[in-house]
Amino acid sequence: MQSSKSSRDNFSGKLGIIAATAGSAIGLGNIWRFPYILGENGGGAFLLIYLLFVLIIGVPVMISEFLIGRKAQLNVFGAFRKLAPGQHWYLIGVMGVGAAFLILAFYSVVAGWTLHYVYLSLTNAMSGHTPSEIMAVFEQVQNTKLLSIAWTLLFMGGTAYIVRSGIEKGIERYAKVLMPALLLIIIALNIRSVTLDGASEGLAFLFNPDFSKITSDVVLEALGQAFFSLSIGMGVIVTYGSYIKKDESLGGTALSVSLADTIIALLAGVAIFPAAFAFGMEPDQGPGLVFVTLPNIFNQMTGGYVFGLLFFVLLSIAALTSSISLLEVVVAYFTEELKLRRKQATWIAAGIIAILGIFCALNDSVFGAFDYVSSNILLPLGGLLVVIFVCWIMEKTAPRGEIEADGKKARYYGWFVFIIKFLAPIAIALVFLHGLGWL
Ligand code: TRP
Repeated sequence: MQSSKSSRDNFSGKLGIIAATAGSAIGLGNIWRFPYILGENGGGAFLLIYLLFVLIIGVPVMISEFLIGRKAQLNVFGAFRKLAPGQHWYLIGVMGVGAAFLILAFYSVVAGWTLHYVYLSLTNAMSGHTPSEIMAVFEQVQNTKLLSIAWTLLFMGGTAYIVRSGIEKGIERYAKVLMPALLLIIIALNIRSVTLDGASEGLAFLFNPDFSKITSDVVLEALGQAFFSLSIGMGVIVTYGSYIKKDESLGGTALSVSLADTIIALLAGVAIFPAAFAFGMEPDQGPGLVFVTLPNIFNQMTGGYVFGLLFFVLLSIAALTSSISLLEVVVAYFTEELKLRRKQATWIAAGIIAILGIFCALNDSVFGAFDYVSSNILLPLGGLLVVIFVCWIMEKTAPRGEIEADGKKARYYGWFVFIIKFLAPIAIALVFLHGLGWL
């Protein structure tokens, strides 16, 4: 189990860690899922709750996961077993690996749609279409099952191809260049979107909270979205933490990544809602939102062909850097615990996920159930157990020791403890039980 320690791969340095972790966090969750979940849950009020959850739950859970991973130097299953020997906390790891399968299955389907939109943009297939024709294009993509499946498999194959090559040469190298490019494109889209006629209605929807829309379900969705978007609650961050060298700051990394992730989600909202309202589309139409609003903007934009193409290419890449992190959780587990070779582990995991992905492509309810169960149940539950583990189960001095391993005193440590001991677990538990109707 620990014999692999010295041969373990590592991130090369600060930039690599932030790029890879932000690459994991920033993905379809920000650009596809955030806007449509927000649209279905009433807009501005959802946004406020979401931001609050990122700050008081997301950041502390991310720091907790990092420190567990770096302390243990192992995959998510091995980490909990090593830090609490003889106890059953490794079940968090089992749950995490299970969640990775579910998330990656539906994620690859959406990523597959994104690839198809690269193709549609390349062939200029939507130029000159009316908003309702653009909507029909999306429905057709969803309903042509074979097409969906083919793109899903292609995407899974690409993910496996990169994960196979390891941390520094695979994951890190791609993330460093691609994430900044995505940011630039989204900013260009924002400028076009907010200057459309009728944009203000969309901005009002996004930024004016209507508190009458808040129900326990909305709050649970906001919590699930925060976990999903930050990639926390299932061991991605534990696994990545195990590749971080001791002299790097965990708190600083968690803050930078969460901030970057939130900014991209907000920018996605500002790109999408003004356009949705300007083109007379419903904000609560669900998973198709990004695929039907943005092509309208591209049609109205000088250079829309180039922007549209670039956007979907970069979105595919953002999806890729996220799916890589999900697959890495399973691969790290397979190689370190089941002693498979990295290549073998990668293809076996990818094969199983591809099969689950086919079910998601074929059936909307399977797709919806995988998404709901993982985001709104498994991730919050994982996060809850992680913070409990750090405050009550780990050796008393270990968390602080790990956070301060970079040689700097953590001035925020008192706050961190207060949050993970009381605020975060109580908040997660309440939202969770209430949202599921158990409280
Ligand atoms: N956070 C990614 C996104 O926003 C998706 C993702 C990657 C993820 N790794 C994860 C979600 C781990 C939950 C858990 O697209």
